[in-house]
Amino acid sequence: MKIRRCAVLYIEPREELGIDWSGLFSGGSALSATMRWVALAPHLDREVEVDAADMAALGGLGQTVWIEREEAARRFGEASVARLLALGLLVDDAPDGEPVRARDETLRAQHWRPMSALAHAFGRWGDVRVETGMHFPDFQQLVAANGPPPPPTVEPAGAGPALALPPVERAGLDDTLFRRYTGRNFDKEASLPLPVAARLLQRAFGAQERRLVGEDAHVLKKLSPSAGGLHPIEAYVLAQRVDGVAPGLYHYHPVAHTLTPLTLLDGAAAAALALRFVADQHWFADAPMQVAMVARVARNFWKYRNHPKAYKAVTLDAGHLSQTFYLLATEAGMPAFVTAAVNDVDIERALGLDPLSDAVMAVCGCGPAAAARDTIELRYGDPDPV
Ligand SMILES: Cc1cc2nc3c(=O)[nH]c(=O)nc-3n(C[C@H](O)[C@H](O)[C@H](O)COP(=O)(O)O)c2cc1C
Repeated sequence: MKIRRCAVLYIEPREELGIDWSGLFSGGSALSATMRWVALAPHLDREVEVDAADMAALGGLGQTVWIEREEAARRFGEASVARLLALGLLVDDAPDGEPVRARDETLRAQHWRPMSALAHAFGRWGDVRVETGMHFPDFQQLVAANGPPPPPTVEPAGAGPALALPPVERAGLDDTLFRRYTGRNFDKEASLPLPVAARLLQRAFGAQERRLVGEDAHVLKKLSPSAGGLHPIEAYVLAQRVDGVAPGLYHYHPVAHTLTPLTLLDGAAAAALALRFVADQHWFADAPMQVAMVARVARNFWKYRNHPKAYKAVTLDAGHLSQTFYLLATEAGMPAFVTAAVNDVDIERALGLDPLSDAVMAVCGCGPAAAARDTIELRYGDPDPV
């Protein structure tokens, strides 16, 4: 049997703090710290603990060249090799090693930058709810806990006096820009007219043109910029109340301009999933349509292979798409939202996607505003909330 190390692995010296009761009563330090080594490997999707002997084996076995297991056991000890194989930090070529090997190979095939794979895999949420710690971030409470935030502007010394710029005239985009705000009070009864949903999806996520840029290499021209022109972000729609669209999960096809049904749901199940997607942020869950933005990372990483900037660029792509989505919703007379506080793992499961290849980036949504405002919003011209 041959073995090698998994493709991406980081080891963290993890400090865990506790109360040292004996120290406290004897007048010493009340704080105790214990240390352990935690291995973070994105293909495993969970942290595992290793010891010093394991670390020597992990440091001595490469991730490219396969070597005989006996040889590894001779060099690093059978116990560590067996343990690391069982943990999935080493992979083997035996038939029963297939599940872990397949995860490792999927990770390799995407061309992730290792640190980006790590940030993505371990930055995901699953099952975050009010009961498990989600709460509305109240500014007053934050100020009480953290003190005031850093000031909203910086005043650098400058190499000379600041240049006063001419006043800005009102112009075409202003009406939309000034009416845009993050909605947190959606009308629970209202639905989204189908032509509005269609325009939003097409103009925010649809292709306006398709260009051949190389042999068998097509790019889509959309109304937002995208790193490398590759547009890796797919739009998955959770329809709760969209006229003419049964509640459920759909994939929006940016060229065909169609919604492919993935799972049809009854209204209650769609509402529950909407709340779950946005990690119990009830102020967003009533929006009649949510769009989960999911990056097919291999589309970007095809060009930006193992690249330190690639994941950042994909994140920026999501931001651009969401702003275009906001502006289109505003044009249609509705508020919109975007949130990164989402249950990535629940979204992946609902859509049947693999986080190593399809990275949930954020969720946006929109819909008509309710008459009453129960949750804070920052609409232009509003008085200060405090
Ligand atoms: C990347 C990103 C993540 C956000 N996440 C949340 C969120 O989790 N919950 C929320 O209520 N608002 C969220 N927002 C909305 C911001 O709070 C909002 O944009 C900000 O308060 C300014 O208000 P405005 O959009 O009405 O101008 C997010 C915005 C961005 C750009």
